[in-house]
Amino acid sequence: MTETMYLTRIGHPPVRGEGGVLTYKIYCVDTGDQCGTIVTHPGTNQSVYISWYLDQEFRGKGYMFDAVAQILPRLLQHYHRIVAMIWTTNERSKQLAKRAGFHYEGTAMQLHKKSDGTWQDVEFWALVEGHHG
Ligand SMILES: CC(C)(COP(=O)(O)OP(=O)(O)OC[C@H]1O[C@@H](n2cnc3c(N)ncnc32)[C@H](O)[C@@H]1OP(=O)(O)O)[C@@H](O)C(=O)NCCC(=O)NCCS
Repeated sequence: MTETMYLTRIGHPPVRGEGGVLTYKIYCVDTGDQCGTIVTHPGTNQSVYISWYLDQEFRGKGYMFDAVAQILPRLLQHYHRIVAMIWTTNERSKQLAKRAGFHYEGTAMQLHKKSDGTWQDVEFWALVEGHHG
């Protein structure tokens, strides 16, 4: 039997914010350094919104994919639908969502107002209980 080799460890307990928002710190297993975060934000009808962030130096090594793969089964114990809202321009994030089993659902036009005053289109990617993989 092969042992599962994790690249990352999810910090416990998550940091609790207002409105049920949870921030999970992500640590690299090999060095123990904090490399990023995953934030979850509960929605209605047993849905939860997820966002992810890796510090620049830790990108391109599969760390976030590993962390997301660890956290999804936990979220599916509590939620029916997991949603990632991703800027249309964010290719790395879309690749991550796709590899993690999320499905593209559509694009909301000009959903987000950026700091420079222009509007950003946002893609909805979802992983629904029983329909992932
Ligand atoms: C989105 C973000 C988390 C993706 O980070 P990432 O490192 O590309 O994501 P992953 O953990 O999935 O790693 C995939 C990369 O690691 C490589 N990799 C190396 N070893 C790997 C392994 N064992 N398993 C999987 N991928 C591996 C893959 O080839 C891929 O690299 P490539 O894109 O150059 O081909 C990161 O770009 C980020 O934090 N961006 C800023 C914040 C942001 O945009 N957040 C999203 C808001 S919606």
